Amino acid sequence: MIVVIDGPAGSGKSSTARAVAHELNIQYLDSGALYRAVTYLFLKSEQSLSTFFESLNSARLSFEFDNEFQVTLNEEDITSAIRDPKVSAHVSTIAAMPEVREFINTLMNNAVQYDVYIADGRDLGTAVFPNAEYKFFMIADLETRAKRRHEELSSKGLQMSYSEVLAEIKQRDQIDSTREKDPLKQADDAIVVDSSTLSFDEQVQYIVTRIKETITTE
Ligand code: CDP
Repeated sequence: MIVVIDGPAGSGKSSTARAVAHELNIQYLDSGALYRAVTYLFLKSEQSLSTFFESLNSARLSFEFDNEFQVTLNEEDITSAIRDPKVSAHVSTIAAMPEVREFINTLMNNAVQYDVYIADGRDLGTAVFPNAEYKFFMIADLETRAKRRHEELSSKGLQMSYSEVLAEIKQRDQIDSTREKDPLKQADDAIVVDSSTLSFDEQVQYIVTRIKETITTE
């Protein structure tokens, strides 16, 4: 069984999905982290596209959810490195490449066959898992999202001003929702969750309740 939460940057998908996974004791899949991992590979390839595609073909990318979503690339733990602002600045451009999307989609489809998952991303309900049992689409206004992300980065000691964070999120929203291949889009059958009007606990419980209803009626 797979449940998906899509939505723009900073809407609260990842923290909500992680909390739901903990409460229901199911697996969590952070698809954005996988796009970040591939972007990390791109930056390591010194931004040369031909070297990048070559290393992508032989890349061993794996992940595990154990309290947090951990990502390993060619035996290197890159869980923290993929949150670097340099990765954030390039990720939407790299994620727009069809070859990259195919690579990540195959990885995710193989993984979810063996367990119950909640996954978050941009195109999961529309393109990757169109038959997901539940599809949520999480939204919040731009300023709320930028404020959240700025606080998150500051708490980790990363130096970025509020206006830089706002500009980056705005740019990523633009690239993610206008790219040709599988843009950020609300699925017709998705349930909208507005995280600027709900408390964190309320949004987690809302999703947990919906999933429990399905599990008990199956
Ligand atoms: O956590 P945050 O909202 O900043 O973003 P993320 O979930 O880590 O995703 C990083 C980027 O990966 C997004 O801005 C998209 O460009 C890309 N992405 C995507 O294209 N498709 C997905 N299913 C997930 C992420």
